[in-house]
Amino acid sequence: MTQDLAPSVRQAVRPAQQAEGWWRSAVIYQVYVRSFADSDGDGIGDLRGIRERLPYLAGLGVDALWLTPFYASPQADGGYDVADYRAVDPLFGQLSDADDLVREAHRLGLRIIVDIVPNHTSDQHVWFQAALADRREGTARERYHFRPGRGEGGELPPNDWESVFGGPAWTRITEPDGTPGDWYLHLFAPEQPDLNWDNPEVREEFTSVLRFWLDLGVDGFRIDVAHGMVKAPGLPDIGRTEQAKLIGAQVLPFFDQDGVHEIHRAWRQLLDSYDGQRIGVAEAWAPTSERLALYVRPDELHQAFNFQFLTCDWDAPAMRDVIDQSLAATQSVGAPTTWVLSNHDVVRHTTRYGGDDAELGLRRARAAALLMLALPGSAYVYQGEELGLPEVTDLPDEVRQDPAFFRGDGQDGTRDGCRVPIPWEGEEAPYGFGPGGSWLPQPAAWAGLSVAAQAGDPRSMLELYRSALALRRDLPGLGDGEMRWLDAPEGVLAFSRPGFVCTINTGGDEAAMPVPGRPVLASAALAISIPEGRSTGGTVRLPSDCCVWWAV
Ligand code: BGC
Repeated sequence: MTQDLAPSVRQAVRPAQQAEGWWRSAVIYQVYVRSFADSDGDGIGDLRGIRERLPYLAGLGVDALWLTPFYASPQADGGYDVADYRAVDPLFGQLSDADDLVREAHRLGLRIIVDIVPNHTSDQHVWFQAALADRREGTARERYHFRPGRGEGGELPPNDWESVFGGPAWTRITEPDGTPGDWYLHLFAPEQPDLNWDNPEVREEFTSVLRFWLDLGVDGFRIDVAHGMVKAPGLPDIGRTEQAKLIGAQVLPFFDQDGVHEIHRAWRQLLDSYDGQRIGVAEAWAPTSERLALYVRPDELHQAFNFQFLTCDWDAPAMRDVIDQSLAATQSVGAPTTWVLSNHDVVRHTTRYGGDDAELGLRRARAAALLMLALPGSAYVYQGEELGLPEVTDLPDEVRQDPAFFRGDGQDGTRDGCRVPIPWEGEEAPYGFGPGGSWLPQPAAWAGLSVAAQAGDPRSMLELYRSALALRRDLPGLGDGEMRWLDAPEGVLAFSRPGFVCTINTGGDEAAMPVPGRPVLASAALAISIPEGRSTGGTVRLPSDCCVWWAV
């Protein structure tokens, strides 16, 4: 049996789902804008390119798109360094393209979530330029964190904080008169100065920016570094090195401070003042699932990414623990759980799960997709995971752009490998990505992984995702709701949902178990023996690294 058992027709969103809040069950597709589709041939993806490919996304069966930042930016960190929050960077188009994209997406039944970057601006933002120019107290510098240095001549950074990308989190400026001056805080690159959220002007400005995009019609925001805006009073030393990575759960004076919740509460009120269920999604790293759940209390944001699931090993007991903890934490505040396997900051999961063994990675990624889409709540799909794209691990140094790569000792610096433009069709790069080249080189093997190469092939990853997403809309037991663990052999996880059972074998060997129902979708070919003369019962031998959906 293969996955062609599923209906291929996209069904409308179930009315119940609408009533409860669309995001509670939504599948949200992450578009990394510069790598999705290029309409003008400059080798960089753009908003018009996305609009032209919307029918593909509607046909895939996702509910919404999350677009990474496309605002005016010097691109020191792939657009997460914003110089003007109300303008589209010419690389990606113009404001009218954003408007057209939102409108066309809505026409096709897709919602649009945009990224908002409130922890820091670009160093080219007018506010930061004004701060550099004017050192008087009570002025532009108070929108950021400027401090005198330590040491006799102020030659040492104000505290021992390290940047997530490596090196000190402080840079000393040269004053307009040419003398060495104060230092400013940047948790990320020096081109990304941290804003001071104790300053009311900062809060007012972001309310206005959110309104700008809500008025344009976006359905919500993915909030970048939602755990970072407030710093511990006095900016205390940490007393050790090796502090923050992007993916981490340490307790730190610049992350997950209680004060951030007041900001999120205010934003929730703003979102609720608009019609159409606009949502806020926290990109927050918190030391525990319980701390993370605080971001999705009823009067705060709607969702938070579940990075505990993303970082979990391929191991049934570990996965079960993470699933239990995630569900318990979000249920304690009445929020839906989210599930995510990849994004633009981590090694693609096909490669994480398989290492050098591409076949193993793909097998596991197929199984993981079915597991994720069967769990209660909402799920995120990172562009290209529906094609089974692996991480590109052999990019030459000259093409790399990730600032973490150039600041070596921080975040591992491998984020370019998951950002390579995706293949659409054809035998040669750029595989239909656009009429020009592509800003990062695509591997030769990607011809076979393109959308066109996979479409219609029932054994392909693309058709597995299409079938799973179509079934997820059809089966009332999927999406938000309850689940119950079932007994299963070692290495296997089995759980039931209304009218539905999911079984996944993470072990290295085949596992035999009683047939729990009628198979509707499987990530690999299945062998089922049913006793003669009976239509149900019998034994299924679950292959290693295989996930099966059953109707019961
Ligand atoms: C984004 C990264 C970015 C960082 C700084 C992260 O959460 O996902 O891509 O480098 O924030 O804005």
